[in-house]
Amino acid sequence: MERVAKFLQDAGTYYLATVEGDQPRVRPFGTAHVFEGKLYIQTGKVKSVSRQIHANPKVEVCAFKDGEWLRIAGELAEDDRREARQSMLDAYPSLQNMYAADDGNTEVFYFKNATATFSSFTHAPEEIKF
Ligand SMILES: Cc1cc2nc3c(=O)[nH]c(=O)nc-3n(C[C@H](O)[C@H](O)[C@H](O)COP(=O)(O)O)c2cc1C
Repeated sequence: MERVAKFLQDAGTYYLATVEGDQPRVRPFGTAHVFEGKLYIQTGKVKSVSRQIHANPKVEVCAFKDGEWLRIAGELAEDDRREARQSMLDAYPSLQNMYAADDGNTEVFYFKNATATFSSFTHAPEEIKF
């Protein structure tokens, strides 16, 4: 899982897909943070992406870097603890211009039942479950 987090951090940008009814939705994301051994992402409750995750926690992520790509299929669970939100904001100080742990908007989710697959044109797919 640390390898998965590092890949997302090094890639800088990944793409997070949610579902809304029968319509896939995808957008760029950047937050990827390990807290208490779990992989977390951050968003704001006011966003459509948040509403979609609460309605259906199944998501998929894709990132590409140096000829290799990563897909993560799994579910996102909200961690509503202040310390989880603060840990994310500490890892991404630039977010503190827009978000605060107690602003009622900031939220963090961690992956569960996740399968990460590293692929490239030159090696067989490698799967990591976490
Ligand atoms: C490079 C990049 C990284 C981003 N990272 C995040 C992020 O980690 N969390 C977030 O909520 N929005 C992030 N955004 C903004 C979202 O892509 C944007 O708010 C998007 O519209 C949210 O999806 P929605 O419109 O379906 O709610 C990022 C945007 C860019 C360009």
